[in-house]
Amino acid sequence: MTLQNLAGLFPRGYTNDWAVGHFNVHNHEFMRAVIDAAEAEQAPAILAIGMLSIKYMGLAPLFAAARNMATSSPVPLAIHLDHARDLATVKQALELGFTSVMFDGSYLSYEENVAQTRKVVTMAHAAGATAEGEIGILPPSMEQMDATTFTRPEQAAEFADTTGVDFLAVSLGSVHGMQTKGATLDLDLLSRLNESLRCPMVLHGASGVIDTDIRAAIGCGIRKVNVNTELKIAFKNRLRAAMATDEPIDLLTDLREGMDAVREACRNRIRTFGSNGEA
Ligand code: 13P
Repeated sequence: MTLQNLAGLFPRGYTNDWAVGHFNVHNHEFMRAVIDAAEAEQAPAILAIGMLSIKYMGLAPLFAAARNMATSSPVPLAIHLDHARDLATVKQALELGFTSVMFDGSYLSYEENVAQTRKVVTMAHAAGATAEGEIGILPPSMEQMDATTFTRPEQAAEFADTTGVDFLAVSLGSVHGMQTKGATLDLDLLSRLNESLRCPMVLHGASGVIDTDIRAAIGCGIRKVNVNTELKIAFKNRLRAAMATDEPIDLLTDLREGMDAVREACRNRIRTFGSNGEA
């Protein structure tokens, strides 16, 4: 199937009963695992490529591998650039054929975030891709949770209208990189954001958020849920166990174990997000 942009993953429009899974992929094993999970669950899905993976493997090689695998899959898939912080990387990704790009200007002043995100939206739309922006700041850790940096509804509505973003990442209690579930969301804030915003919202840092809050957030305007750390932990734990056995050295068998663990974790997330059967 041809690659889709994010809007193309929702051919029947946005409804409050499911969200698409955004899964960060770092190598061949992660890509295969995410696509296999999406196919097994008949779910649309997003293969997300972030800055650390680009540093590790390069933007073009990662995209080429993802595109090769994704276009031969029968389920709708998008290839998304995650947390770009400069326009040159966005431009390069769009030229390669990424179907979706996220510009993270949350660390900039409001005015600079608007100005840069507007440029990203124009570039993305000219390439037939969708654009995600971010307003509000995710705290760096649970210990540094600071509700004063959460997304403000009036500012978010103005940001979405001025920039024209297709999806908006919001801050309401999650943090990136949690290794166990424990974060809860400010669902009251989410409901106010949902009333003020014209575009669907994105939940970053979903690895640490308890399932009941993820489901509640999906019922209240979150249409894309980002998962990275949980998959890396699943891969690493299974790989470590496989490598600790006395079996003859066969790296491919060990890597397959890790890949299986990522696939199982993705299938589980897809069912939590209710995207199973939506392909
Ligand atoms: P986690 O690593 O906390 O799952 O966050 C993923 C994310 O938000 C990617 O953009």
